[in-house]
Amino acid sequence: MVLERVAASVDEAGLWKMHEEMARFGATPKGGVCREALTPEDFDARRQFAEWGRDAGFVLAVDAIGNMFLRREGTEPDLPPVITGSHLDSQPTGGRFDGSFGVLAGLEALFALERAGIRTRAPIEVVNWTNEEGGRFAPGVMGSGVYADPSMLATMLEVPDKAGTRLGDELDRLGSILAPVGPVGARALAAPVGAFIEGHIEQALRLEETGNSIGIVTGIQGTRKFRVEVIGEEAHAGTTPRRRRRDAVLAAAWMVQALHRMMEDADDLLRFTIGVFEAFPGAPSVIPGRVRFSIDFRHPDDVLRARLGDAIRPLCEALAGPCRVQIEELQAAASVDFHGAAIEAVRHAVEIVGASHMDLYSGAGHDARNMARLCPSAMVFVPCEKGISHNEAENAKPEDLAEGARVIAVALAALAGAA
Ligand code: GLV
Ligand code: MN
Ligand code: MN
Repeated sequence: MVLERVAASVDEAGLWKMHEEMARFGATPKGGVCREALTPEDFDARRQFAEWGRDAGFVLAVDAIGNMFLRREGTEPDLPPVITGSHLDSQPTGGRFDGSFGVLAGLEALFALERAGIRTRAPIEVVNWTNEEGGRFAPGVMGSGVYADPSMLATMLEVPDKAGTRLGDELDRLGSILAPVGPVGARALAAPVGAFIEGHIEQALRLEETGNSIGIVTGIQGTRKFRVEVIGEEAHAGTTPRRRRRDAVLAAAWMVQALHRMMEDADDLLRFTIGVFEAFPGAPSVIPGRVRFSIDFRHPDDVLRARLGDAIRPLCEALAGPCRVQIEELQAAASVDFHGAAIEAVRHAVEIVGASHMDLYSGAGHDARNMARLCPSAMVFVPCEKGISHNEAENAKPEDLAEGARVIAVALAALAGAA
């Protein structure tokens, strides 16, 4: 009965209102958000998150990479917390639900426990992970990555954005932004976690197509991310004959074509994207002396991803012509299968809530992949309209978001020992 009471205490209208309020920070004319990590818009969202937590009596702590944890105390405070959450940062042309849903559903789950007057043995925390998207500061899933492996911290603090601003310098501003809201405790990286559950919109079509309202995520495909620099020589577009040109765009274009050809697969499982392609100095009458492009490469099969990923460098070197090429691997994450107490709690929760559901494998990356290295972890997907995501047109229905929050609330309550 306790878990049924938790589910019944989730407030659909309240959850939707929080989404609307959160969507004001970085709102774009097309109805999405531009709230890249550690920008003023992201700081506004973080302040709002802290205020909601303070008003409900939760305790805020921040770690060395800026991950924010709002804690509802347990009756046995020394037990490792059960954590839920996702990210409030967005892609430059992002939607209102990617990341925000997981954070706000977590908050709503804690509010539901408050309303129902239910205590848990273990503390429950809602986390806002820093820089999940990785658009401004690459690589993404950075906050959870550093939490799971603190040895990455020093390198990540040095990561520059396009303008050369260090991530660490932006992060230094967070303390003074949060201080007026109330006390901010310090949180140790890699501090033990009992279990982690992340809510997220599906970002694909299967829930909508099948009419299910909940996806129980069985795993996340692995990924490799690279930055490629092609170095040629700037020269006059009107006077330089072909034999003297070291045109970085031309060499990079050959590479892009050949890479796409190499990555074609008959079953269309492999995901290969060049999302950034920049030529310098970027003037019509200057032969470009430098090109920088990104590679985002994903496939569930670790062996295939290793083989094809390792073939990127020789292929680019072979096509560089009169230019040079430098390739840096920014991230390599293995595929993850969820198992153990967290996904079992989600499976039990969908039965308690009576939600229509199916198992799903995630093509998108999420912070839960990093947390699975530390503790039993799981994800709950809800439908989004036409599967559209990483797009300002991203949309979702209040009733689907509320169903996801019910499942998350029940799973958290069970994992934390509700009484
Ligand atoms: C997350 O946004 C991803 O790129 O998978
Ligand atoms: Mn996301
Ligand atoms: Mn995203």
